[in-house]
Amino acid sequence: MAEALRVGIAGLGTVGASVARVLRDKAAELTRQCGRDIVVSAVSARDPKRDRGVDLNAAKWFDDPVKMAQAAEIDVFVELIGGDEGPAFAAVRAALEAGRHVVTANKALLAKHGVVLAEIAEKKGVLLNYEAAVAGGIPVIKTMREAMAGNSVTRVFGILNGTCNYILTRMEAEGISFDACLKDAQRLGYAEADPTFDIEGHDTAHKLSILTSLAFGTKIAANDIYMEGISNITQADIRAAGDLGYRIKLLGVAQRTESGIEQRVHPTMVPTASVIAQVHGVINAVAIETDILGELLLSGPGAGGNATASAVIGDIADIAKSRPGFQHGPVFGRPARELKPYRKAQMRSHAGGYFIRLTVHDRIGVFAAIAKRMADNDISLESIVQHAISGEVAAQKTVILVTHETTEAAVRKAVDGITKDGHLTDKPQVIRIERAG
Ligand SMILES: NC(=O)c1ccc[n+]([C@@H]2O[C@H](COP(=O)([O-])OP(=O)(O)OC[C@H]3O[C@@H](n4cnc5c(N)ncnc54)[C@H](OP(=O)(O)O)[C@@H]3O)[C@@H](O)[C@H]2O)c1
Repeated sequence: MAEALRVGIAGLGTVGASVARVLRDKAAELTRQCGRDIVVSAVSARDPKRDRGVDLNAAKWFDDPVKMAQAAEIDVFVELIGGDEGPAFAAVRAALEAGRHVVTANKALLAKHGVVLAEIAEKKGVLLNYEAAVAGGIPVIKTMREAMAGNSVTRVFGILNGTCNYILTRMEAEGISFDACLKDAQRLGYAEADPTFDIEGHDTAHKLSILTSLAFGTKIAANDIYMEGISNITQADIRAAGDLGYRIKLLGVAQRTESGIEQRVHPTMVPTASVIAQVHGVINAVAIETDILGELLLSGPGAGGNATASAVIGDIADIAKSRPGFQHGPVFGRPARELKPYRKAQMRSHAGGYFIRLTVHDRIGVFAAIAKRMADNDISLESIVQHAISGEVAAQKTVILVTHETTEAAVRKAVDGITKDGHLTDKPQVIRIERAG
């Protein structure tokens, strides 16, 4: 049997400790599958005394993950520290430069430094595997990088943040407010104490930027993503969406258009009957549309120690199975130096349907004025409905418009016009509608 693959794990938190436990519990099965043993030979974290729920005494302890990355004791450096700079970046770079394979779950790191790290890995002939970085346990990287050779991707989109999907699911099911749902999510450990990163779309954007690169062969451009979070979604939106046959999801969408590549993260209305609308709670999903395959949807657990460990271990097992001297496939599906510059499509040119919810003074002429602003901007309406607002708020109405395909620029101009006309009593709400099968 080939020599054991020696793994160094940096970061022994939620994911790192799960990886160490599964490697121990599934050692015999992994040996059978990989044809060699996989052993944890080194570990690094901040606190050497903390109980990790798994016996790591046989592994050499390193206070400094960079030293571990360069140590002779390891063949694979597994980075589970997190963060886009600091020890994670320094150690991953050091490991690759020292000719060690790297496995990471760190989307923030890849969103920022992925191309540079891929160049080093490819120059050194080592693997940089990152299945767990996008959608946790769902094998989307492998699917896009390996199983879809020859396909040209036209659009990739997904529910990439479990916290947001959990909140939106509960808001719809229980009719409770965003704030109440968020508090509950925090209490149950589904949301961080500072939830901004998740609910404002940053986490989704990091993951999307990696999918975009894989889909379109472009350099990662995480800073160029249009982003809107879910914090301004109200019960009124959720109810109106339901009445119209839609469900609201926070989607990350990357799409090739005539004017470039759109990368956008925002609340989106998807048809209630679509497959992606059935993805509830903390579950993630990624849809990939290609010229040959059509639409593929993968869904499953996007976070959590074991689910994420499953993806990390799959990556480690691939390294264990790889033959010495074998030329590894490129990190982002094409050689890193051949990744094309990202040509951004401006959001103003985005084409699609729109849901617009307006709260207006209940007076004569308002409805006609709104319809005129739409017509002036060549927006054709699929429906326009007005309701009196029940309860104490007198003299106000809600007007809900659903447009046929139009452009973002036209919608913004029309809504600005309506705002200037002085008919609104509250901020207008605009939610994009996404085509989904
Ligand atoms: N949690 C998930 O469900 C999930 C899902 C997908 C991807 N990820 C990604 O996986 C990575 C790890 O996430 P996590 O949730 O496991 O994080 P975590 O629970 O906060 O664990 C982080 C670990 O890094 C260690 N660490 C921090 N600074 C260090 C340093 N300077 N040197 C060595 N070790 C250091 C910590 O040590 P101490 O324990 O001693 O403090 C801790 O063990 C992140 O990139 C995250 O984005 C997580």
